[in-house]
Amino acid sequence: MNETPYPPLPSIRRIVEDGAAALQRYPDRTAAALRGALAARLGVGPESILVGPGSAGLCQHLVQALGPRPEVVHPALSFEGYPLIIGNVGARGVPVPMDGYRHDLPAMAAAVTDQTRCVLLCNPNNPTGAVLHRDEIEAFLARIPADVPVIIDEAYREFVTDPQVPDGMDLFRAHDNVCVLRTFSKAYGLAALRVGYAVVPPRVTPLAGMVGAVFFPNSLAQAAAVASLDEAVTPELTRRCADLAASRARLIDGLRAIGLTVAPSEANFVWLPLGERAVPFAEQARDAGILVMALPGAGVRITVGTDEANARLCAFVQSTWPT
Ligand SMILES: Cc1ncc(COP(=O)(O)O)c(C=O)c1O
Repeated sequence: MNETPYPPLPSIRRIVEDGAAALQRYPDRTAAALRGALAARLGVGPESILVGPGSAGLCQHLVQALGPRPEVVHPALSFEGYPLIIGNVGARGVPVPMDGYRHDLPAMAAAVTDQTRCVLLCNPNNPTGAVLHRDEIEAFLARIPADVPVIIDEAYREFVTDPQVPDGMDLFRAHDNVCVLRTFSKAYGLAALRVGYAVVPPRVTPLAGMVGAVFFPNSLAQAAAVASLDEAVTPELTRRCADLAASRARLIDGLRAIGLTVAPSEANFVWLPLGERAVPFAEQARDAGILVMALPGAGVRITVGTDEANARLCAFVQSTWPT
């Protein structure tokens, strides 16, 4: 599930343990402390920040709020949650096939019509790990009508090392229709708590408020997320992401050295385009005690783990899997 292999930082764990003493209380439904901390970190006003129960929950909230136009343009193969989210809010997905491992941005721009509610971009893309560069996103945005929001899902942003990948916040500042979606689940290691955030233009804030009543994160999640933004812990989290990116490079090299085709990745997972061999690969890996995600007929996504886990995976491939 692309979780970090690192356990929670002791200071964050303590906050969650202490929070258990007040479980009879409802959380702050305005999430004021968390929105304030994010606003300060990102250099925007708190009214630009939405928080929600994981970025997937928040994404659904946003797509619902952006109605009533019926269609949502999204990349395919991408995050498996998108078709569910779109269906859950009664919208219609317009899946645009990939160009290899990457979004086909010209085709996505061509799929936008007067029926389009919003566009979803995933950068880096789950499950292929591919990234979109600054110049191509700018060229894409230039083709999108100003009244069509573009949601840039940056769930894996913190693992990116390619300098040509834009910070979604720069795109947000330069365009009135860009929304940035991020999560505390991956790099911050808070997946179990369910907390994510979005940065949205002023036009979207009141729309989102209309459907937001049940979408605020729980109090332990809010407190842990606030503490995770503290300067005292940021260097450790940044170091973990850098270590993860280095492990990713070693894992890709290791798998390629054995003879597998591995897509370039800027996320905390790697993609093997195994086609019809994806399911047998995942089944044999499971038998060897290794969990990977197969997308039948397409490939296998493998989360970068500890060095020990990565070594076990390479040993499994070397001994069991014909390349
Ligand atoms: C691209 C992408 N977006 C969003 C999410 C949802 O993450 P969460 O709801 O835990 O914030 C995921 C989780 O795997 C993801 O891969």
